[in-house]
Amino acid sequence: MGLKESTIFVTGGAGFIGSAVIRHVLTETEAQIVNIDNLTYAANLDALSAVASNQRYAFRKLSICDGTALRELFLKFRPTAVMNLAAESHVDRSIDAPAEFIQTNIVGTFVLLQECLRYWRGLSTAEQARFRLLHVSTDEVFGSLDSEGCFNEQTRYAPNSPYAASKASSDHLVRAWWHTYGLPTIVTNCSNNYGPYHFPEKLIPHMIIKGMSNEPLPVYGDGNNVRDWLYVEDHARALTLVLEKGVVGETYAIGGRSERTNLSVVESICDHLDDISPASHGSRRDLITFVQDRPGHDRRYAIDCSKIERELGWRAKMDFSEGLAKTVMWYYENRKWWQDILNRGYRNTRLGLGEAK
Ligand code: NAD
Ligand code: DAU
Repeated sequence: MGLKESTIFVTGGAGFIGSAVIRHVLTETEAQIVNIDNLTYAANLDALSAVASNQRYAFRKLSICDGTALRELFLKFRPTAVMNLAAESHVDRSIDAPAEFIQTNIVGTFVLLQECLRYWRGLSTAEQARFRLLHVSTDEVFGSLDSEGCFNEQTRYAPNSPYAASKASSDHLVRAWWHTYGLPTIVTNCSNNYGPYHFPEKLIPHMIIKGMSNEPLPVYGDGNNVRDWLYVEDHARALTLVLEKGVVGETYAIGGRSERTNLSVVESICDHLDDISPASHGSRRDLITFVQDRPGHDRRYAIDCSKIERELGWRAKMDFSEGLAKTVMWYYENRKWWQDILNRGYRNTRLGLGEAK
């Protein structure tokens, strides 16, 4: 599928990854974008200010759980593709309050699938062949790794958190709509993203903001959990390529080949902050505090992304140390962006201990 003369629905386009996808597609292709987002706490339209006046961009505030409203949008815009990034995305929140995760991630994906199918069935044969639903998922559906090995497209599902289970459910629904009804779907499972406009509840921005304020830096457990970091713009490029060139019915694992322990990530953030803005009390590493672990905390994630590299020619370009330095600098220079989020009521406090056993 070429993206010329394409109209793409991006659900969750006001979120961290969705907004990067929209910026990328509008800058690098000629496609039209309709951003469908109900603007939860995690949304931020400021991330789209550079493209909001683009003639090829439209925004509609609505939930993917609202089938009637989606149906009207399909009839009005007649998309050639849908990229589904709308989700509740934060593991700690899913431990405290899973209901919204079930609603958006499972029920919302189901409603979206039904509306895609209804619309797709009304298309001509040529239009049906061109249509794609790209469902964006996570490596967390595969559970936790020991110190060896990587997740790939064959790894069995073993989700451990309410978030991961909700994403696994949505992946299974998408697969079933392809196998049962022939709806042309593709699923991607990617590792931890980082970069500009990341909501401050997530590890990297959380630590940057706390470090800038010289507050304690709360590392869960022993800090030796491992994540495989992917720069968000590399991910946006991968998703665009999968939409263009990916094979229907397939899944693609996407990762940055950048495994790091949480502790080493936090130490690097401290060092970058010390370089940019030395603290009077000395090294920010002294602020690192080991706190009660996340219940059910997955030990290690790592992605073998050789399939997308081999078959589609994608490769993560951003080196982790360079990407982290850029990200720390971005938060340093864009204090207003995250200060506004704090002013709107986000507390930057510990989440995820909830009702855990
Ligand atoms: P995010 O939390 O930053 O953004 C999610 C967006 O979805 C928000 O703008 C929110 O308003 C919107 N949304 C939520 N519920 C909605 C609904 N019912 N209808 C319409 N819009 C709704 O999330 P993100 O980090 O950008 O993640 C995007 C997708 O990528 C998610 O599906 C997530 O599971 C997946 N993913 C994220 C990562 C990561 O590291 N951030 C890694 C792998 C996969
Ligand atoms: O792997 C992909 C997933 O990555 C995505 O599907 C999720 O949407 C995304 O939120 C992310 O999930 P994680 O749970 O890995 O990300 P988070 O930033 O919450 O935590 C990263 C690691 O850092 C994890 O091991 C928990 C730890 N952590 C997190 C916070 C917020 C801390 O040690 N201290 C903290 O304060």
